This record gives sequence, C-alpha cells and structure tokens, in this order.
Amino acid sequence: MECDGIHVRSGTMTTIGLIGSGNIGSTVARLAVAAGYDVVLSNSRGPETLSDLVDTLGPRARAAMASEAAEAADIAVVTVPLKNYRRVPVEALRGKVVIDTNNYYPDRDGHIAELDDESTTTSELLQAHLPESHVVKGFNNIYVDHLATLDRPAGDADRSTLAIAGDDAAAKQTVSQFLDAIGYDTHDVGALNEGWRFQRDTSAYVTPYAMPGTTYPDWSARPTSADILRDALGSARRYRDM
Ligand SMILES: NC(=O)c1ccc[n+]([C@@H]2O[C@H](COP(=O)([O-])OP(=O)(O)OC[C@H]3O[C@@H](n4cnc5c(N)ncnc54)[C@H](OP(=O)(O)O)[C@@H]3O)[C@@H](O)[C@H]2O)c1
Repeated sequence: MECDGIHVRSGTMTTIGLIGSGNIGSTVARLAVAAGYDVVLSNSRGPETLSDLVDTLGPRARAAMASEAAEAADIAVVTVPLKNYRRVPVEALRGKVVIDTNNYYPDRDGHIAELDDESTTTSELLQAHLPESHVVKGFNNIYVDHLATLDRPAGDADRSTLAIAGDDAAAKQTVSQFLDAIGYDTHDVGALNEGWRFQRDTSAYVTPYAMPGTTYPDWSARPTSADILRDALGSARRYRDM
C-alpha cells in the first residue's frame, strides 16, 4: 500500500500541513490522504470551521490553528489568497519545505508594487517572508478541478506533469517525491526567480491542463505530458513583454 511505502521510505510518518484549506488546500489534502499521508488543515477562521472537511477526509485528517498546522508539517502547503502571505507563520516553518500555490490577482489581493514592476515574483515574496524555509513553487498553474482529477499512478500513459521552481535542490526532490506519491510527475523549471514562467496569464498557466476547445468554467481536464508542459513554458512571456 502507498501509505506503507511512505512509512518504509521515510522511516517516519509524513504529515502535510495545510496553511489554507479552500479549493486547492482541500484538494491537495484529499490527494495526500489518498496516498497515505496524514494532513493537518488550517484556515483563517479556526479549526472548528473545518470539521465537515475533516469528517470527509477521515482519520488521517485533523484541523488546527495555522501555527499548529505549520508546526506539525513535514511538508507545508501555503495556499491562501496572496494578500495574506505575511500572516503565514514564520517560526514554525523554519527549516521546512514549503510548497507555495499562490498567484497574484490584483483585483483580489490589491496592488503589490514589486509584482507590478516585476522586480520579484510571488514565490520570492513568500521566500522573503520565510527566510529560513525552503519554498518551492507548485500547484499554482493548474485549475483546482483538473488537479482533483488528473492524478494517475506512476507509469500510467495519461499521467500529468506539474511544474515546480525553487532554490533548494533537496527541497525540490522532496516535493517531487510528494507529487509522485499523489499521482503526478514533476518538471523542474529552475530557481524560484524563474517562477514567472508559469505565473498567472502566461501560456503555461492553467490552459495546458485543459482540453483544447473547452473553456472555463466548463473545462475538461487534459492529461498533460512533460512535452506539452515544456512547450507551454517555452512560450511564456513576462507581463511587460505581453
Ligand atoms: N482555485 C484554483 O483553481 C487555484 C489554482 C492554483 C492556484 N490557486 C492559488 O492558490 C491560492 C489559494 O486558492 P484557493 O482557490 O484554494 O483559495 P480559497 O478557496 O479562497 O481558499 C483560501 C484558503 O486560505 C485560507 N486563509 C486565508 N487567510 C489565511 C491565513 N492568514 N491563515 C490561514 N489560512 C488562511 C482561507 O480560510 P478562510 O476561509 O477561513 O478565510 C481558505 O481556507 C490562491 O493564491 C490562488 O490564486 C488557485
């Protein structure tokens, strides 16, 4: 069983700590539970508001305050509206691998000058907030319903590939193993400052995972090979060049 595999591989239980348990957080949690991980969910309103989700996910899931989810995490997933990134617990995530799913939507997040002038990227902002954590950008460029349905076992011809970026090779390896366990291959785009290549509105953003000819919100998922993803990444442009 997958869960035994995780235990044998790591020698210890692996816990995924969710900072944010909305669309993406709950979906990652469901995939992680299905792969045999324990998950600790959190949101901004408190653990009692997550009891239905915990019940749905079963005994491998519990809810806690964000700081407790961070404390419990072997791998943390930060998946909140970007405007709240400064509220992500710092101390409890020190030294840990942190997957950053966040995207910048000025209508939702307000304007952030360093993102508007492209002097930094969203995941570099989170890395600056968490200077002693190992931030890996991931899950940000796939629509939640596609993430929920495109997972496949290793070796499946229809397995999809997810993009990651980060500055720490060991952290990226850890994330790649996690993605493999939950049903995805990984394509490493490079350092964190390369994360713009799959940020909002680029050619590598969400459309690679959508069946051509279908449109939001009635998108069908398309299994996305590494070749499809690489092609999309190859056409990505900075906002200033669009
Ligand atoms: N939806 C997608 O298809 C998709 C795909 C890829 C990436 N993303 C990106 O991933 C991020 C999350 O998206 P989403 O669609 O999952 O958002 P969402 O459904 O609105 O969920 C956001 C979650 O973050 C929690 N949260 C907000 N502030 C928090 C804080 N300070 N501490 C802990 N939790 C906090 C919210 O809790 P409360 O409800 O209690 O406030 C909620 O559980 C966004 O940056 C988004 O752009 C979204």
